[in-house]
Amino acid sequence: MWEADSEDLWQDAPAAGRQVSGELTADDIEVEHSLRPKTLDEYLGQERVRENLRVLIDAARSRNEPLDHVLFSGPPGLGKTTLAAVVANELEAGLKVTSGPAIARTGDLAAILTNLEPGDVLFIDEIHRLNHAVEEVLYPAMEDFNLDIVIGKGPAARSIRLEVPRFTLVGATTRTGLLTGPLRDRFGISYRLDYYTVPELALIVRRSAGILGVTIDGQGAQEIASRSRGTPRLANRLLKRVRDYAQVKSDGVITWKVAAQALSFFEIDELGLDWMDVKVLRALTQTFRGRPVGLTTIASAVGEDPSTLEDVYEPYLLQRGLIVRTPQGRQATLAAFEHLGLTPPSA
Ligand SMILES: Nc1ncnc2c1ncn2[C@@H]1O[C@H](COP(=O)(O)OP(=O)(O)O)[C@@H](O)[C@H]1O
Ligand SMILES: [Mg+2]
Repeated sequence: MWEADSEDLWQDAPAAGRQVSGELTADDIEVEHSLRPKTLDEYLGQERVRENLRVLIDAARSRNEPLDHVLFSGPPGLGKTTLAAVVANELEAGLKVTSGPAIARTGDLAAILTNLEPGDVLFIDEIHRLNHAVEEVLYPAMEDFNLDIVIGKGPAARSIRLEVPRFTLVGATTRTGLLTGPLRDRFGISYRLDYYTVPELALIVRRSAGILGVTIDGQGAQEIASRSRGTPRLANRLLKRVRDYAQVKSDGVITWKVAAQALSFFEIDELGLDWMDVKVLRALTQTFRGRPVGLTTIASAVGEDPSTLEDVYEPYLLQRGLIVRTPQGRQATLAAFEHLGLTPPSA
């Protein structure tokens, strides 16, 4: 189905493929910023979350109270950071952004909290990575807008209580399982973001194409959407790369044919699996012959960090039923063997 000539022009296809799934480049970050929805209306998909938030935000605004603390969880690229900014925008509140690893000491948190304006939204990304001492200080701040800080050391140490402005904490995490119980309990509102459907992603692709000034037809958008692993961030990144391809290989217009050729050139297969996904599946099906394998073993077999594997790659493979988690480890399913065109080992 693919025309062979695409190969001669693009000698470095594997490297190009890697770019799609690898680290974000500075350009990606800039584009991502420009494509970020600012309002609930622009935020596409996640219907239930959107409807809920709209009601809660309206209620908080009409009572003139800060919104309850909100937790967003789900795999990377599904729109957690975007939603945090949307929430602040819809509340017409200020937004302060930080992350779990960035708040090293309790003093750092105290500085952040005491600098908030009343009603501000404080977004803490990767909130599961807050250290224990900082978390302890965060609890009373979330509950009663109080800050208990200890001044001095040893016998002279004493604790003082400061009031902090009433604020809304928005936390994001890729894995709720890593959040401590007490922290989770202090969020009044908690949503798990799911992978997007293909029609939702097609809408996102068309919206992004409009912003980037790219011409794309319905089938082109559909093709990119269906290979984006349910993830808006990937849909936008694929759109960008397909646009580059379309400019060099044709008249810049993204049709189904151009999209399909470009995506196969970038080593994104029909399920949206990229080279790392396929590498994982090959390790499980071929190297380990369908036996259950521990996460760290797979990680070293494919040369990827175990937590990246668990956060970024595994959720989608699980969701597509290509792998399963058993008490003995991760295991390729029959669907994985079929997808790779391999014969499963006889039982
Ligand atoms: N619901 C959505 N509608 C439109 N675009 C979205 C949506 N969710 C995410 N995006 C796009 O995907 C990109 C990544 O989203 P982001 O909020 O950074 O994900 P996360 O924080 O969950 O990793 C954003 O730049 C945005 O353009
Ligand atoms: Mg984020």
